[in-house]
Amino acid sequence: MASSTSSLLFKLTAFTLCFWVLFGTTSGQLSANFYAKTCPNFRSVITRAVNSAVSSEARMGASLLRLHFHDCFVNGCDGSVLLDDNSTFTGEKTAGPNSGSIRGFNVIDTIKTQLESQCPGVVSCADILAAAARDAVVALSGPSWGAVFGRRDSTTASLSAANSNLPGPGSSLSGLISSFSNKGFTANEMIALSGSHSIGQARCTVFRNRLYNDNNINASFAATLQPNCPTSGGDNNLSPLDLASPTTFDNKYYNNLISQSGLLHSDQELFNGGSADAQVRTYASNQATFFRDFGNAMVKMGNLSPLTGSSGQVRTNCRKVN
Ligand code: HEM
Ligand SMILES: *[C@@H]1O[C@H](CO)[C@@H](O)[C@H](O)[C@H]1NC(C)=O
Ligand SMILES: *[C@@H]1O[C@H](CO)[C@@H](O)[C@H](O)[C@H]1NC(C)=O
Repeated sequence: MASSTSSLLFKLTAFTLCFWVLFGTTSGQLSANFYAKTCPNFRSVITRAVNSAVSSEARMGASLLRLHFHDCFVNGCDGSVLLDDNSTFTGEKTAGPNSGSIRGFNVIDTIKTQLESQCPGVVSCADILAAAARDAVVALSGPSWGAVFGRRDSTTASLSAANSNLPGPGSSLSGLISSFSNKGFTANEMIALSGSHSIGQARCTVFRNRLYNDNNINASFAATLQPNCPTSGGDNNLSPLDLASPTTFDNKYYNNLISQSGLLHSDQELFNGGSADAQVRTYASNQATFFRDFGNAMVKMGNLSPLTGSSGQVRTNCRKVN
C-alpha cells in the first residue's frame, strides 16, 4: 500500500515534470512554445524582420514597443490597435493618443505576410506585436523577457476605450498611478514601464507646454529644445524622449528625471518631490534592477485580457477582420 502510494506520487511528480518540460513556462493561458508544432520558425521570422527594420531606422524599435502597449491597454492584447478604419468601421488609430504618432504598421504587415506564407492562419497579430516588442527592446540593447504566446485577435476595436485608457502627456503622478492601477499595475510597475521612454521620439505638440510653462524643467535642457519647438508652429517636430541616449534602451531616462530633464510633463511627474522619487533614484543608479522589473512588468502587460481558445480569430491581414 505504502509503496503503491509512493509510486503513484512518483508518477504524478514525473507527469508534472514532463508536462512542465513539454509546455514550458505558462502564464495564464499563454505559453512560451504555443507555436512549437504549428509554426516552429515564427520567432526567427519576427526577430529577423524587427532587426532589419531597426537597423534601417532605430526609432522603429520604439514604435513597435509602443504599439504593443497601446494594444494591451485598450481592452487587452488583442491586436485591436492594428485595425484600419473604413466607411463602416471605426478603429483606434484616430484616438488622441494614437493619431499622428502611432507607427510601425508596415513592419507588422511584412511580418504577417511572411508568417502567412509559412503557416497560414496560425500566428495572431496580437502575438506578433508581443514578440516584436521584445525583439525591438533587445535590438536596442535592452533586456529580454519570457514572452508568452497564444493570444487571438479581436473582431472589434474601441475608439472610446483608446481615448480613455491610454494616459496622456499632461498626466499628474496620481493620474498615472490610477490609470495603471486600473489595469492591475502597482505604482512601481508603472515607473518601470515608463522607462520605455528611454527610446523613441515625441512631437512638439505634446511637450510644448512643458518647455514654456513648467517650473520643474532644467533651464539648459529647455533652452536646447525650444528652437525645435517654438511657442507656435512646428507641432510635428520631433525630439527624443531620452536626449542622453535616444536609441539605446538603458536607465538614462531616470537620470534625466533627476536632472529635471524629462521631456513630457508626465515623465517629470515621476520625479517631482513625490512618492515616486525613491524608485526613480533606484532605477537611475541600478540598471540591472530596472531591467529586471521592466521585463517582469512587460510579461504582465502582455497578459492583459488576451483572447484565447476559440475566442476571437487569427486575422490573415492584421489591418482587417477576416
Ligand atoms: C506612463 C504613462 C505614459 C504616457 C503619459 C505616455 C505618453 C507618450 C507620449 C505623449 C508619447 C509621444 C507621442 C507623440 O509624439 O504624440 C509617447 C511615446 C512613446 N511611448 Fe509612451 N507614454 C506612457 C507610457 C508608455 C509605456 C508603458 C510604454 C511602453 C511599454 C511607452 C512607450 C513609448 C514609446 C516607445 C514611445 C516613442 C514611440 C516612437 O518613437 O514611435 N509609453 N508616450
Ligand atoms: C541641468 O542639466 C545639466 C546637464 O544635464 C546638469 O548638469 C544640471 O545639474 C541640471 N540642473 C539641475 C537643476 O538638475
Ligand atoms: C471595414 O473594416 C471591417 C473591420 O476590419 C471589416 O470587417 C470590413 O470588411 C471592412 N469593410 C470594407 C468595405 O473593407
